[in-house]
Amino acid sequence: MKQTVLVTGANKGIGYETARQLAGLGMTVLVGARDRERGERAVERLRERASGVHLVQLDITDAKSIAAAFEDVSARFGRLDALVNNAGIGNASDLPSKQSLADMRTLLEANLLGPIAVTQAFLPLLATGARIVNVSSSLGSLGLAADPTSRIAAWNALFGYSASKTALNAFTLRLALELRERRSGEPGVPGLRRDRSERAPRAAHGRARCGHRRAPRQSGGRRPDRRLLRRRRRGRLVERPSPAAT
Ligand SMILES: NC(=O)c1ccc[n+]([C@@H]2O[C@H](COP(=O)([O-])OP(=O)(O)OC[C@H]3O[C@@H](n4cnc5c(N)ncnc54)[C@H](OP(=O)(O)O)[C@@H]3O)[C@@H](O)[C@H]2O)c1
Repeated sequence: MKQTVLVTGANKGIGYETARQLAGLGMTVLVGARDRERGERAVERLRERASGVHLVQLDITDAKSIAAAFEDVSARFGRLDALVNNAGIGNASDLPSKQSLADMRTLLEANLLGPIAVTQAFLPLLATGARIVNVSSSLGSLGLAADPTSRIAAWNALFGYSASKTALNAFTLRLALELRERRSGEPGVPGLRRDRSERAPRAAHGRARCGHRRAPRQSGGRRPDRRLLRRRRRGRLVERPSPAAT
């Protein structure tokens, strides 16, 4: 079955190119665009080279638009195999000491709250083994910002944007940990399965998906199974999509 992917902010830039390449791989691509006309133009161009490209009108900062997009995708496609939270804005940044709070709110709305809201809304549609990709930036890395030899450390004037991406990184990591915990913690929802025949490809299942090797212990939560963790580190276990994967 063809895989279905929704890319937000896909009418131009990185989102458009992502949509173009995924469509070229034969996937059904849902082009998220807040402006219908801009979205239609992008879909038209994409259809010159690939079939299976559809418009989904979606403003990631508008709760009604997100709800309508969810209904639209549910009705037309019934499932999603991947969600690419690409839409974002990069303007209105300043030095930390001068950053306007109004501009900071706008940046956080688009670059953090939007992806969170879209992800939360579409989780029920994300099928077994589905991927969530949050498009971040090296400017969001606190490690690079703290490294005086990194050029990222010199870009203080982009504080508002950088902070919004740092917060997006936190969401990405915490969500991955939560979903992993849910997969391995729910009765009848096996998250870790023994499998000698294959190893998880690092690019596909590694850092972006789970962030840490070890799941943190939640207060009141289940104690991690040390035997399973040891086996996983030795590569004898691979993570498998759960039937109730979200
Ligand atoms: N360009 C870079 O060098 C770079 C580097 C690292 C990370 N990134 C990240 O990559 C992503 C795409 O960047 P880009 O350079 O391709 O930017 P871009 O060319 O400005 O495209 C941004 C896209 O996001 C859409 N968008 C903005 N706000 C939206 C909203 N509220 N609802 C729905 N769509 C919205 C825009 O729609 P409209 O056309 O309607 O405005 C556009 O389609 C962003 O998350 C950005 O932070 C970019």
